[in-house]
Amino acid sequence: MTQTLLGKIALITGASKGLGKAMALALAQAGANIALVSRDEAKLNAVAAEIRGSGGNASVFVADVTDEAQVAKLRAAVAAQFGGTLHILINNAGINIRKPVTDFTLAEWNSVLTTNLTSVFLLCRAFVPMMKGRGYGRIINLTSMMSHISLPGRTAYSASKTALLGFNRALALELADEKITVNGISPGVCDTEINTPLMQNPELRAQFLSKIPVGRFGEPSEIAKLALYLCSEDAGFITGTDVVIDGGWTAQ
Ligand SMILES: NC(=O)c1ccc[n+]([C@@H]2O[C@H](COP(=O)([O-])OP(=O)(O)OC[C@H]3O[C@@H](n4cnc5c(N)ncnc54)[C@H](OP(=O)(O)O)[C@@H]3O)[C@@H](O)[C@H]2O)c1
Repeated sequence: MTQTLLGKIALITGASKGLGKAMALALAQAGANIALVSRDEAKLNAVAAEIRGSGGNASVFVADVTDEAQVAKLRAAVAAQFGGTLHILINNAGINIRKPVTDFTLAEWNSVLTTNLTSVFLLCRAFVPMMKGRGYGRIINLTSMMSHISLPGRTAYSASKTALLGFNRALALELADEKITVNGISPGVCDTEINTPLMQNPELRAQFLSKIPVGRFGEPSEIAKLALYLCSEDAGFITGTDVVIDGGWTAQ
């Protein structure tokens, strides 16, 4: 692969598994130096080892992205490691709780909104200052097919992911003159841990599969290649928008 991101420093939240891990591997292969963030040190170390094993560079930062104090510590640690520089920020950490609105506790509602939405605010507030003044920057906030359509039992998740569309537009306008683009990637259904409840239920799995026009689930590597493109110099005119990658689900 061409080293299109050589010399770039990228921070990816939720990099311990799933889509975050896939994006970390892809950006590292393209030459970026990756700050891997999640709460699980062992899993992050395994991802870092995989990256280093194929000649890339990665560092591990353990943080709960919903916690303001931990994000402040993360910012200080990343700034110290990379001399105050950051080029790419991918806010990917996310959770889902699926149940009817009447069954949600306030704590459950808050955990979805805080993880999927408020953390993005906290990370952008912390790291945008390190990204300014470089004539290049990329922020990708993981949205979802559920930012555009929804299903029963997804009030909290859809609310959080739809709110990000507005957040992304506003931040894109704030940062346009800095040449920092801000976009969402809206994946359809991929077979990662967030979807364990549906993947392990044969009936539900088949039901979801039947709704995907291309007839298969998405691959994390496909999301990663899209992220890689949005991070490239070629994508500098794409900002304030959302790219849906869902096998055609939302076209129906
Ligand atoms: N997979 C899909 O089909 C799909 C579709 C649409 C959108 N998305 C979005 O894509 C993103 C990634 O999803 P995924 O499929 O890769 O899910 P996943 O496999 O469940 O991974 C979620 C990641 O988020 C991290 N995370 C969760 N809460 C965190 C917290 N408080 N602090 C730090 N890290 C936290 C987890 O890290 P630790 O547990 O190690 O802390 C993990 O690395 C999410 O935003 C999700 O909503 C996924």
